[in-house]
Amino acid sequence: ITKIGVLTSGGDSPGMNAAIRAVVRTGIYHGMEVYGINRGYSGMVDGDIHRLEGRSVANIIQRGGTFLKTSRCAEFFTKEGRKTAYDNLKKHGIEGLVIIGGDGSFRGAQIFSNEYDIPCIGLPGTIDKDIAGTDFTIGFDTAVNTAVEAIDKIRDTADAHDRLFIIEVMGRDAGYIALHSGISTGAEHILIPEKKTSVEDLIASLKEKERRKKLVNMIVVAEGEDFGGADELAKHIKKEMPHQELRVCILGHIQRGGSPSCFDRVIASRMGYHAVECLMEERFNVFIGIVNNKMHYTPLDEAVKKKQRISEEWLKIVKILAT
Ligand code: F6P
Repeated sequence: ITKIGVLTSGGDSPGMNAAIRAVVRTGIYHGMEVYGINRGYSGMVDGDIHRLEGRSVANIIQRGGTFLKTSRCAEFFTKEGRKTAYDNLKKHGIEGLVIIGGDGSFRGAQIFSNEYDIPCIGLPGTIDKDIAGTDFTIGFDTAVNTAVEAIDKIRDTADAHDRLFIIEVMGRDAGYIALHSGISTGAEHILIPEKKTSVEDLIASLKEKERRKKLVNMIVVAEGEDFGGADELAKHIKKEMPHQELRVCILGHIQRGGSPSCFDRVIASRMGYHAVECLMEERFNVFIGIVNNKMHYTPLDEAVKKKQRISEEWLKIVKILAT
């Protein structure tokens, strides 16, 4: 393989730039031509493809977002869209692809690599950490630390006013950001989609805390929780405890931005380097994860079927500590 393409797809995540940089520089080190594909699969369909040099990726490792830009491309999920994308890659002579994105992006890569003779390597770039086959995803550490910083600040004001706060964090239908940020900020309740909590039990627990004059309570809730988000949960609590001083804070997209943490920059660099090695060694159509600090390769065909699972031990820790 002498010509490769790299793209970022789906929701951006801090560290994507570090991964692109690693792919570009490792590819060039091995004498390859490296092409950047703008706006994810959309750029493949539109032919928005440009040659990158080592210096094209200078001064980006510390930046959030993705300098290649990203998108969620519906057209790529049609046969015609993929055919156009393939023709565009062929025009540039691209023989291998590195796709940095989440599970939706891997699904696209899996379909494409089964249809066409262009091997794909996936790198897990998502703040949600919802991909099985890796202990970490690029961007999760930064996002969760952003959430922690915000939640710590909210606790200061909650404490000053003796208030109950409901803080909604991102994660789509996964609870990892809530779990990690909740544990590390000492949240009194952590609500995640993987472990159903009944509103009645939650309210009973809040009432019990009220009886023992524990008035400052932080509820960290994952956006994918069944209650329909923090606002809905607030309505339930207000109905049962009308006197309760309560505020809602939805952290939203600040969790996706910002300079990547050292951890994210390092795993992105390692994964980007190994993506090129995989293409050279013909270890095709896998996504690269890190398990027990070692590179771990999962075939894309398997990756799209598996879901990351939260261990019982974590749930027990939450139950014991968050009271
Ligand atoms: O997958 C990353 C993520 O930030 C999720 O946590 C969130 O549900 C979603 O993307 C938000 O997507 P958008 O930026 O399109 O609103």
